[in-house]
Amino acid sequence: MSSAVESKYQPHDMQFRRLGPAGLKVSVFSLGGWLTYGKTQKGDPVKDCMQAAWDNGINFFDTAEVYANGECEVEMGRALKELAWPRDEYVLSTKVFFGTGRKEPNTRGLSKKHIVEGLKSSLKRLEQPYVDIVFAHRHDPDVPMKEIVEAFTQAINMNLAYYWGTSEWSAQQIQEANEIAEKYHLIAPIAEQPQYNAFHRERFEAEYAPLYEKFQYGTTIWSPLASGILTGKYDNGIPEDSRFATNKDFFGDKAEELKKPEGQAKLEKVRKLGKIAERLGGNTAQLALAWAAKNPNVSTVILGATKPQQVHENCKALKLMEKLTPEVMEEIEKILDNKPKSQL
Ligand SMILES: NC(=O)c1ccc[n+]([C@@H]2O[C@H](COP(=O)([O-])OP(=O)(O)OC[C@H]3O[C@@H](n4cnc5c(N)ncnc54)[C@H](OP(=O)(O)O)[C@@H]3O)[C@@H](O)[C@H]2O)c1
Repeated sequence: MSSAVESKYQPHDMQFRRLGPAGLKVSVFSLGGWLTYGKTQKGDPVKDCMQAAWDNGINFFDTAEVYANGECEVEMGRALKELAWPRDEYVLSTKVFFGTGRKEPNTRGLSKKHIVEGLKSSLKRLEQPYVDIVFAHRHDPDVPMKEIVEAFTQAINMNLAYYWGTSEWSAQQIQEANEIAEKYHLIAPIAEQPQYNAFHRERFEAEYAPLYEKFQYGTTIWSPLASGILTGKYDNGIPEDSRFATNKDFFGDKAEELKKPEGQAKLEKVRKLGKIAERLGGNTAQLALAWAAKNPNVSTVILGATKPQQVHENCKALKLMEKLTPEVMEEIEKILDNKPKSQL
């Protein structure tokens, strides 16, 4: 009987990038479960979205302990079990810090206790022996940086994860973590998970710039469509089945903001981007995703999707990337008119 593993993965036209200084390769588009899996989507729709991602060559999936208070990990873990892809063909990350909604002092944060115990609980929900990457979902000012770096090193040495990263840390905090890792021969983080999209650029493009040079720091960027604004779906109001309607508690203020002059100006920019997208043979979402992926400091663009069709549509951004010539990028820059000042 052959012991060869039957591959279930076809990369198609997907591009792959190294995740920062690590040897790990991630698809330039990936899929995450914030506000979707375990929350508005459960059961087969989760599996169908993940299968759609896989069918487009996506090999990287992202979750967190806090998403739907642990239910996102349960749903994505169950989908992975049912899909039965060979474990060495996909990359999985989770994040610790916010806990799962419990209030006890040690069930959240970045103490050594919560990093190790929180990650073990995540793995139990995911039904996985390890994740490839564990992120510190935020920085924790109550814990000495040496303890944080030691704890992630310990988690890796316990085979609970292969790599660790940061999420929404300042450049200074990331620099400090790297310096401590070097000084004490601990394991340094490899990547940051920051928000980055055409309307949210300052930190990614300006503050983090020295990190890309100094540490070849990787990035797994989130909300590339600004929660859907950059699809054009909010141009004429809030569709009933859209995130701003289904997550009113979280997005009520944002929906209100869109009605104000500043919000209207944003939507006008989206309409103009839509015209460029159309001329290039794509749609607004694909243009926004291609624009983000075009940045060489982006290792992977994490997509969010409530429907498999969104994943299929969004992955067509790969084709549009080729059409974003320097002239088109300049045209987009003029519309956005928000380049971080230090980049001018
Ligand atoms: N580290 C962090 O702090 C952090 C924070 C947030 C997110 N993340 C990660 O990043 C991932 C992506 O973030 P995100 O979900 O905010 O990304 P996003 O791309 O900005 O928004 C995704 C949402 O936009 C809508 N959408 C997507 N494609 C569409 C299309 N083609 N047409 C119309 N609507 C479309 C869908 O919502 P509806 O269908 O409901 O409208 C979808 O759930 C998350 O899943 C998570 O893994 C990390």
